[in-house]
Amino acid sequence: MTQREVRFPDRFSWGTSTSAYQTEGGGSNTDWWRYERAEGTHCAEVCGDACDSWNRFEEDLDLIVELGLNSYRFSIEWARIEPHRGVTDADALAQYRRILEACHARAILPVVTLHHFTLPLWVADLGGFEYPEIASLMGAYATVVGDALGDLIGIACTVNEPNIVALMGYLIGAFPPAQSDWERFSNVNVAMRSCHVAMRDALRATPGNYPIGMPLSMNEYEALPGGEDLVNSIRHEMEDEYLRCVGDDDYLGVQCYTKIIIGPDGRISNPEGELTEMGYLFWPQSVEYTIRRAASMVDIPIFMTENGIGTDDDEQRIRYLTGALAGLANVIADGIDVRGYFQWSLLDNFEWTFGYRPKFGIVAVDRTSFERTPKPSAHWYAEATRNFTPPR
Ligand code: BGC
Repeated sequence: MTQREVRFPDRFSWGTSTSAYQTEGGGSNTDWWRYERAEGTHCAEVCGDACDSWNRFEEDLDLIVELGLNSYRFSIEWARIEPHRGVTDADALAQYRRILEACHARAILPVVTLHHFTLPLWVADLGGFEYPEIASLMGAYATVVGDALGDLIGIACTVNEPNIVALMGYLIGAFPPAQSDWERFSNVNVAMRSCHVAMRDALRATPGNYPIGMPLSMNEYEALPGGEDLVNSIRHEMEDEYLRCVGDDDYLGVQCYTKIIIGPDGRISNPEGELTEMGYLFWPQSVEYTIRRAASMVDIPIFMTENGIGTDDDEQRIRYLTGALAGLANVIADGIDVRGYFQWSLLDNFEWTFGYRPKFGIVAVDRTSFERTPKPSAHWYAEATRNFTPPR
């Protein structure tokens, strides 16, 4: 492969993150759509039209401009681009080109995730991440994307939180295909890393010189007495093995939300302290913790590609973001090479098995009219990004 000259954005990226399935609406050709309708899957409600961003993307981008943010992370849906094996949908690619062009027209850096939790039905039916050829399927999909859209991509993310796809789908059993088996979980983690490498290499061979990396879910962990070994094995599977495989990437995406407390029998589900709507510990300190941990293990630039809080209380969100940005400032002041921060999420959107109840957005979305209304936290975040100065 010829040497590719990678071009990073020259400014710090301040943005928000979303994903296709959670905002576009109409993701009917995916495993998640089917899963929501299957017996016994405990999904609170179906995704349906989500935020209708497939049609309203210009409104979403205008909000980003109004807030003065310079970057937007969103994902593209494999099930739309390749609805059947080997069949490419030119209309879907044309729509994603329009979205990317609309970003550029507004001077917004488009950060594009190729896979965010959902699989086309035909891939799920082959066995999903347990299908032996999954990495080559994902590599081929990445080639289609790179050829069609690469000239407009600002930064690419291969697979969003591959470790969470493995954990929730194959160990916790809450995401499709709802399995619960340590060995399968561990094998899928291995497959995920091959998928990432296949996608990265495929993108590198197509037009564009944007940075390519993997957004990894990381946590602060605390072991209660007797929980130490479990923390070590969880970290090994969920973080360390991934961090060992990203050294040749252009950057690492770090995503965090909380601190997880582990006892001898597993995760403590209702830890003492302030909790969020997801039942997570309110723990903005995890930003500083996870970035420091990542930086101690990899030697490539870091973007915080997701961080936020699910809450109905916007004051709580502002407190969370205050803590998160303080941690960000600390790591930058210490010389850690962090190039951007993406709050999750621009919109109140579809929170997987929880449905629409958890509110991660800095912008509220009316579930009937889809009208968008920025919350005080949106303005707070916009202002904080303008005044952000790392301490010396
Ligand atoms: C995922 C998002 C999700 C968010 C909040 C992340 O793990 O990438 O899709 O909405 O967490 O739970």
